[in-house]
Amino acid sequence: MPNLPDHLLRRFTSETRIAFFTGAGISAESGIPTFRDKDGYWSKYDPMRLASVQGFRADPELVWNWYLYRREKILSVKPNPGHISITKFQKLFPDSCVITQNVDGLHEQAGNQNIYELHGNIFITRCLECSQEMDVPIIFNPVTEGIPRCECGGLARPGVVWFGESLPMQTLSDAMTLVQQVDVLFTIGSSTAVYPAAQIPFDARNNGAVVIEINPDQTPFTSHADLAMQAPAGVAMPQLFEELYAALA
Ligand code: OAD
Repeated sequence: MPNLPDHLLRRFTSETRIAFFTGAGISAESGIPTFRDKDGYWSKYDPMRLASVQGFRADPELVWNWYLYRREKILSVKPNPGHISITKFQKLFPDSCVITQNVDGLHEQAGNQNIYELHGNIFITRCLECSQEMDVPIIFNPVTEGIPRCECGGLARPGVVWFGESLPMQTLSDAMTLVQQVDVLFTIGSSTAVYPAAQIPFDARNNGAVVIEINPDQTPFTSHADLAMQAPAGVAMPQLFEELYAALA
């Protein structure tokens, strides 16, 4: 699919500063469901029951079972050509970062560098009350073993950001600063529906960066993109990389 038009190709040199802004769609080809697609998690489950503090307090076992199921699923998959292309891009464009809404850790597993996880990481466990990170097994049985408790007595919870919670302040502020400085931002596999993260491609565009969207579907950002590639990330990203590699060689 890709074929970058000449006026965009000319914007790339080895010094080009790039941000890869990603959402659940980049992990779809690894076999991880997205949230808002037809078969996405939020078409089957109520986000307020599974991804909010109120939902957790009402039924911590139910919530943990869902996150443990997701942890097991993620442990059974591998990064796909979309993630792996970013590693290759980062060798060609060293001044680059990954700003992700994903909690699955697949960017890191693929060898991506400078990763900002805006919504936390599903493999981290922390205390519901004091937020302290807890060193407990990644997989446990909440029914037979009970939910681990922190030294302060609080229940363990997954280290992800839930609805109604703030994003990790330092990570968000670092990411926002980088977005003001980049020359190019790729927005890959995000519905651009959840704020404040969804502001990122708009901010990059407003600051004069070239913004290229990779998503088989339209999003609220599509009409603002310099280029919208309606293709799966695992197809478009390797092709984009080959094109840029050839152009810069
Ligand atoms: P969504 O599920 O909202 O959007 C996924 C996007 O990926 C959609 O726009 C799809 O069209 C696109 N997509 C699907 N397959 C793709 C593929 N192979 N290649 C490229 N794109 C593809 O996921 P996010 O935008 O990440 O928050 O959602 C944002 C946040 O909402 C998530 O981080 C999560 C959720 O509630 C928390 O858990 C805090």
